[in-house]
This record gives sequence, structure tokens and C-alpha cells, in this order.
Amino acid sequence: MEQNLRIPGPTPIPAEVRAAQSAPMIDHRGTEFGEMLREITGGLATLIGTSAEVFVLTGSGTGALEATVVNTLSPGDRVLAVTIGSFGDRFAKVAGAFGADVERYEVEWGSAADPARLAAHLAANAPYRAVLLTHNETSTGVTNPIRELSAAVHAAPAEPLVLVDGISGLGALPFEMDAWEIDLVVTASQKAFMASPGIAIAAVGARARAAEETARMPRFYWDFAEARRWAEKGQTPWTPAVSVLYGLRVGVGRLVAEGRMRTWARHAAVAAAAQAGLQALGLSLVAAPAIRSATVTAAWLPDGLEWAPFNATMRSRGLIVAGGQGQWVGRILRFGHMGDVGIDDMANAVRVMGEVLVESGWPTDPAAAVLASRRAFEGSLAGAPR
Ligand SMILES: Cc1ncc(COP(=O)(O)O)c(C=O)c1O
Repeated sequence: MEQNLRIPGPTPIPAEVRAAQSAPMIDHRGTEFGEMLREITGGLATLIGTSAEVFVLTGSGTGALEATVVNTLSPGDRVLAVTIGSFGDRFAKVAGAFGADVERYEVEWGSAADPARLAAHLAANAPYRAVLLTHNETSTGVTNPIRELSAAVHAAPAEPLVLVDGISGLGALPFEMDAWEIDLVVTASQKAFMASPGIAIAAVGARARAAEETARMPRFYWDFAEARRWAEKGQTPWTPAVSVLYGLRVGVGRLVAEGRMRTWARHAAVAAAAQAGLQALGLSLVAAPAIRSATVTAAWLPDGLEWAPFNATMRSRGLIVAGGQGQWVGRILRFGHMGDVGIDDMANAVRVMGEVLVESGWPTDPAAAVLASRRAFEGSLAGAPR
């Protein structure tokens, strides 16, 4: 049975990317590899909106969070971790594991961080060496106002570094690294970039690079100085996940060809379809409209509906969605819609979920929900810049 993979990463892999990933192996110290590396990092820089250096690192997104921390900070550095969900918590834990003096700035799950409140906190508690931010909180389906949060951090005493987890947003959501003065942002191949898991990506701005000079946290595998030295030769310091890079080249190429504005508009339209479809099925969405993520939609499970059997039945019909994490296990479901996603995927997901709801004794009208979903998609695209 064909699966409709609607988790927020790993995301579905287009046939073209799958084919690329099965190409014969090449020498990772040869010129062909160097050309591929330059093409990928150049494309990623375009997508991220930066002229900064971009590294591809072999590992998962969490590896890139660790790389961020160890390359810019020293043990004992005061760090403010702004957390709005479980991935914000993870970033804080990584910094703590390497000896940073981490203070958590916790925002209620389902909400975004408020720039004015963050500014007030920073002013009252300064100085910090860095502020850790999550662009798109995958566990709650909330997108932070990252541009405004970055501005608040830059205005704070001692101008802390702005270090951003952009893992589930980059490539799909509007992002302007240079214009928004993001010092360092990371993401990963298995999200909007449509490749297999295995490559982490870090874009390192000038202030983050300067911080490397004084950062004393222990590092070896993730050392950006090594990555930089080898990148100049068109190589990576350690044996990279070459096959994933084949796929990433195609995934990044597709996004570059689509054009950032169109990609962002497509994700906004698919998200509108997910939101409208779920609401028409009778589910309440977790996030308020202004902060709803365009890559993952979180909805409350209806009262009395048990997650495990509901999820098992959806899976038996080929619909794979994600459940809640941390404090929201068994309370929410999460619908991923980033990367290679269009309205038909969303309409199918809404229909199957509606049918399973009906079978579970939850009265709803799947056909009406699909219609609402398609209308929302068209409405969103009609209003989008072309
Ligand atoms: C926002 C965010 N941060 C971090 C991670 C962790 O990435 P990985 O699972 O690739 O280590 C994820 C993965 O879902 C994520 O969505």
C-alpha cells in the first residue's frame, strides 16, 4: 500500500531524488565531489538568504545544534535558551551538556516568544553571550517571529549571538539570514530539502565565525575550522554521507528552480489546506492563526478519542501522522507538510483521517472537509505574490 507520509520529517523523497541517491559511489576527495559540494552549499545559501559560509556536516540536525554550541561558546558562558517546545528544550540541553551556564526562558507550549517581552528580559538580566532560538517549533506547530526576536537580541546589552535552530523551517518558510542578522542557523537534509536523513547544514555568519576564535568548548568532529579548511579544497574533513548529498543536490536544485517566493507560497497554501481540512473535521488547532506553522500543523485530539487505536487505524490505511511529544503525548496529533507536498497529499490525508474518525464514532463529514481543504488551498494561492 502506498503511504501518505505526513510526519514533520523525514519527509517524502521525490523519485528524482531517490534515483540520484542510488547513483554509483564517487571519490569524496575527487573533483566531482568538490563540484557537487559547491553546488549544494551555493544553493543552500540562496535558499537561506545569505552570503555567509554554509557547511554540510554528516549527522542529524541535533549534530548541527551541537556544532553550533561547541564552535561559538565556552564553558561557563551565560546563555539564554528561549524555549517554546521540546526542540527548544533540546537546544538548551545541548548547551548545558557542554558546560554553558544556561538560563531557560520558557514560553507556554502552543505560543510563540514575544519580542518585546524577550527584549525586557534581556535588558533586565544582561549580559548573555548568546541567545538560542527555534525558528519553527515542530513539537507544537508554532513559528516564532524570528526576525523580531533577532532584532531584540541585537539590541540587548553586550549584543549576544543569535543562534537559531531552523531545522523544520528552512527552505519552506520565509527566511533571510543576512537581512535578519542571524549569526548562525542550522537545518537538515530530511526536512524541506526532500533528501534522506544524514546531512546537517550550518550557515555561519561573521559574528559567529569571530566567536570561534575564543570559544573553548571541546570539539573535534564538529569543528568548523576543520570544515572550513577542507571546504576550501572542495572536501569535508571526514567521510561524508555521499549518497545523501547526491539527493540533497537534487532537492536543493528543485527548490532553487521553483524560486523562494513560490516555495513559500506553496507551503503557505498547503498549510491553509491542512488547517481548513482539520478544522472542518471538527478538530481544534493548537496555535493561533498568526503563529501557525506552514510546515507542521498541530491539532488537539477530540475528547475521548484515544490516540493509540486511532493512530493504528490511520496507519493501516496508509496515513502516517505524528503524535504529540513531551507533555503533549496522547493529546495532540501533528501533520507534516514540508518539502515535496501538494494539495492532493493533503486532501488524501484529510479524507482518510475523516473516514477513520467516523469509524471511531466521531461524527464528521470527510467529503466536506476535503472540499474545505481544497478551497483554502486555492484561496491562499490566489492571494499569494507570483
Ligand atoms: C526544530 C527541530 N529541531 C531539532 C530537530 C532534531 O533533528 P534530528 O532529529 O535530525 O536530530 C528536529 C527534528 O525533528 C526539529 O524539528
